[in-house]
Amino acid sequence: MTASQKQSVAGEEPIKQYRHQHLQKRKLRELEQTEHWLCQGRGGIAFENIEFIPRALAWGLNLLDLRKRGESNAESIIFKELDWQFPNMPESFDGYSILHLSDLHIDGMQNLHCRINDILCQQTPDLTVITGDFRFSTAGSIHLVLEFMQKIADKLPGIDGTLAILGNHDTAELVKPLEDMGIRFLLNENHPINRGDDTIVLSGLDDVHFYDLGDIELCNSRISNRNFEAFKVLLVHSPEIIAQAERLGYSLYLCGHTHAGQICLPAGIPVITNANCSRRFANGRWRFNNLQGYTHFGTGSSGLPVRFNCKPEIVLHRLHYRKLKKLE
Ligand SMILES: [Fe+2]
Repeated sequence: MTASQKQSVAGEEPIKQYRHQHLQKRKLRELEQTEHWLCQGRGGIAFENIEFIPRALAWGLNLLDLRKRGESNAESIIFKELDWQFPNMPESFDGYSILHLSDLHIDGMQNLHCRINDILCQQTPDLTVITGDFRFSTAGSIHLVLEFMQKIADKLPGIDGTLAILGNHDTAELVKPLEDMGIRFLLNENHPINRGDDTIVLSGLDDVHFYDLGDIELCNSRISNRNFEAFKVLLVHSPEIIAQAERLGYSLYLCGHTHAGQICLPAGIPVITNANCSRRFANGRWRFNNLQGYTHFGTGSSGLPVRFNCKPEIVLHRLHYRKLKKLE
């Protein structure tokens, strides 16, 4: 082993140690979940942990003969492309594309992974990100999650790979097997991407909604001096720390969690958003001062896998360093 190889192995040790400690902390919080199942973290009442809600909903939809339509809606994933403009982004990243999946809840529907694969096969983004909630339930076996994720892992596109974060439905137990499939988890960590001398930094937090283990201050302080002024993108499961992200100079905030309501009134008005933030941040594109963001509608569905007036999606974000020219 050369001297530089020895140095890089030595540098990896503290990172390994930190990741191990963080996952232990998360496991402990998950064990405590039974004590705080109704209320913990920023979210107020944890509707996702109240088991009778999906059962009551199923009963009502069966009665109205709407269940099948709702299930069919939940499988009909749409593909959306969005353009973003950033005056502070390095020119060398102009056109950089990020494929965004969120809230897969992959074990909640037998054929969801097939529809996801259909879309993934047609995409060639620079980077793929998954903003949490791989599992359908908030507890229980991850066997089926891993089985279905294995079917899509090979198809996940991205020259710069796939980054992910944990959501409130996930468990620390998912991290190792999903990383073995090539999905890199950020646990309050940063991932720099370089183009020549330019860098953008992707920061990924643990869940801030229920487990309250996301630490944006820590994550931001870890950005190396060399990259401190870099263009920063934040991956968080829920849209609940927007003000902090803006204060710390992040330019783009990608999240999910709300499923944009999943069951909505006509015109896509959510009944419940399950997030402790203004409703204007609960779905789609938004801006908060200098921070732009996107709250994903969810690729899968939770509770009862049905959707009304709210389509599941996979989104391609295209980042531009200057204003788009108006079409003549
Ligand atoms: Fe979710």
